[in-house]
Amino acid sequence: MSHFSLRSTAQFLGLAGLVFAHPALEIVGHSSHRVAHTSGQVQQIQWLNCTDFVPSTLDPTELPSTLPDELRCGNLVVPMDHSKEICASNNITINFAMRRPNNPKGLIMYSPGGPGGEANSFAWSFALNISAEGSGFVGLEDYDFLAIDVRGTEYSNPLNCTSDAIFPSSIPSTQAQFDEFQNITTTVYNACEAQSTPQGILNFLRSEDLASDWDSVRAALGYDTMHLLGLSYGTLTGAIYAEKFPERVGRFVLDGVGSTNITLHTYTVSQIKALNRLLLRADAYCMNDTSCPFNSLGKAGAYPNVSADDIRALIPLEFFATAPNFTEFNLALAAATQGDASAFTYNGEFAAGFSAGVASTVALFCPDAQIPDTSFDAYTNVLNEVAAVDTYDMRFSLILFLNAICNFWPIHGDVNGPHPDNSTMLLVSSDFDLNTPVENLVSQAGDSPNSVVIIRHGDDHGSYFEATNQTFISVFEPGQTISGPEDPYLVPVGAAAGDGFDYE
Ligand SMILES: *[C@@H]1O[C@H](CO)[C@@H](O)[C@H](O)[C@H]1NC(C)=O
Ligand SMILES: *[C@@H]1O[C@H](CO)[C@@H](O)[C@H](O)[C@H]1NC(C)=O
Ligand SMILES: *[C@@H]1O[C@H](CO)[C@@H](O)[C@H](O)[C@H]1NC(C)=O
Ligand SMILES: *[C@@H]1O[C@H](CO)[C@@H](O)[C@H](O)[C@H]1NC(C)=O
Ligand SMILES: *[C@@H]1O[C@H](CO)[C@@H](O)[C@H](O)[C@H]1NC(C)=O
Ligand SMILES: *[C@@H]1O[C@H](CO)[C@@H](O)[C@H](O)[C@H]1NC(C)=O
Ligand SMILES: *[C@@H]1O[C@H](CO)[C@@H](O)[C@H](O)[C@H]1NC(C)=O
Ligand SMILES: *[C@@H]1O[C@H](CO)[C@@H](O)[C@H](O)[C@H]1NC(C)=O
Ligand SMILES: *[C@@H]1O[C@H](CO)[C@@H](O)[C@H](O)[C@H]1NC(C)=O
Ligand SMILES: *[C@@H]1O[C@H](CO)[C@@H](O)[C@H](O)[C@H]1NC(C)=O
Ligand SMILES: *[C@@H]1O[C@H](CO)[C@@H](O)[C@H](O)[C@H]1NC(C)=O
Repeated sequence: MSHFSLRSTAQFLGLAGLVFAHPALEIVGHSSHRVAHTSGQVQQIQWLNCTDFVPSTLDPTELPSTLPDELRCGNLVVPMDHSKEICASNNITINFAMRRPNNPKGLIMYSPGGPGGEANSFAWSFALNISAEGSGFVGLEDYDFLAIDVRGTEYSNPLNCTSDAIFPSSIPSTQAQFDEFQNITTTVYNACEAQSTPQGILNFLRSEDLASDWDSVRAALGYDTMHLLGLSYGTLTGAIYAEKFPERVGRFVLDGVGSTNITLHTYTVSQIKALNRLLLRADAYCMNDTSCPFNSLGKAGAYPNVSADDIRALIPLEFFATAPNFTEFNLALAAATQGDASAFTYNGEFAAGFSAGVASTVALFCPDAQIPDTSFDAYTNVLNEVAAVDTYDMRFSLILFLNAICNFWPIHGDVNGPHPDNSTMLLVSSDFDLNTPVENLVSQAGDSPNSVVIIRHGDDHGSYFEATNQTFISVFEPGQTISGPEDPYLVPVGAAAGDGFDYE
């Protein structure tokens, strides 16, 4: 079993190469113009030697000794609070990487999500041609390709939320457990606040702050408009960007849609539905996999009752997040029924890694969340709604977990919307995405009525890098009723559905 990686927690909503055959995605041929900007203070980029800013996800010893000329790295000083001018008490420095050809035809922004997912390595991978993700951008060589590490991460004024806080594997359901979550969350918040600079930065980590950073870089590069490929959490920043700066929007693709038009409460309920759908997908996969230990049991007879909190937590966190490996899951579950549940171990290394990942995730996630009532009673209502749709009594999901924590994070926002915007964007999700359930896509379409919606029939979070067959998608033009998700047993399993795809 692969060990814990930040990807499985912080990759909130991950990665997404087929270029979908729809005019809304045709970047090539549409230049983003460079013109003199008219308003706002435009900062000067400080160009850097990329050798000094190698992304943490890349192994420096595997990089060529001479970096290509197309790879460029830079810093930009931006206001911490974009509603005020830059000054000594109001600035932070954000860091980015680009693949820059000569005479670029326009600007493409790439955001891999997270929240707080490292972004710069994608520009490196493209410039160096060193990974599947990098080769996913083939065809876009004539454009400036920009990836910005979001504020609070990597080289962009990173937060330090290190503490010894360890979260339990269970969702609080009693007042005492709720109080315990409060204590742990307070420990994390206090660590972030005491150890991060500049003072007050935790108040300015909302999607709208990130969107303003994007716009500062766009302006500093001298572009009038930009294109976007935003994945997962990057779909929230993208949608907020479109709302704030509609005149800057070129071609925007939101892949693995988080939605700026859904309450945290509803998102939580949708994710529990999605988790139950994924169990059925694992069953459908098992039925066509003779090596699956439950194969002979047939439909829906396949799963034993799972009761331990740790197993419940590990299923969504380790096995089903981003790109599920159903073979691995079915084998692990079978071993658990035979008395070996080691693949579902929570305590120790997993709990420490997960808790550290959660600490840096919530600093970016909770400030976007609108929670009108943070009482235990209101939280109990969420649990009751979850229970009503929780067919297989899973009780745990990452968003449910974050929902509990955000009750106690002192900073809240309003990204849950609505945020109406008339831009023509392309919104993409898959039927059996756990991180950003297809219900979120539908609500985002309510916010973005001129957008085209694509539902990919299959598994995994994000579609850009893995959708290979136009047969397995449904396209909904603006105004059309969006149907889905499909029956987990009717969508074919296999490579075309994304099964066997590996993001690592
Ligand atoms: C960047 O730094 C490396 C290592 O110090 C050096 O070899 C290289 O010449 C520098 N590149 C530029 C463009 O200054
Ligand atoms: C940014 O803030 C630092 C102190 O945090 C200060 O030294 C620096 O001069 C400021 N930069 C600008 C451009 O105001
Ligand atoms: C990028 O790498 C792939 C696989 O290693 C190779 O097939 C392709 O030719 C490379 N592209 C360029 C532009 O070097
Ligand atoms: C983060 O804070 C911890 C605890 O105070 C400290 O030990 C560690 O050195 C800090 N990390 C960085 C990168 O500053
Ligand atoms: C929470 O922390 C307070 C103060 O540190 C302590 O008195 C209380 O027992 C803790 N409550 C729980 C449920 O852990
Ligand atoms: C699973 O749990 C349900 C409800 O608790 C029970 O009715 C059923 O018999 C259990 N199934 C197995 C296979 O243990
Ligand atoms: C979107 O377009 C509709 C119809 O033209 C208009 O009523 C509405 O105000 C527009 N909304 C925004 C946010 O521009
Ligand atoms: C989404 O937002 C729009 C307005 O932006 C609103 O009309 C709609 O009811 C919202 N909800 C859903 C679920 O679409
Ligand atoms: C796409 O899937 C369909 C249906 O399974 C199949 O007939 C077709 O060959 C596939 N196309 C590609 C390019 O894989
Ligand atoms: C399972 O395999 C059978 C026979 O190969 C095929 O007809 C069926 O569509 C497959 N089911 C799924 C869910 O892929
Ligand atoms: C999925 O898990 C199986 C069993 O552990 C393993 O053999 C296979 O390589 C994994 N597939 C991917 C894409 O990681």
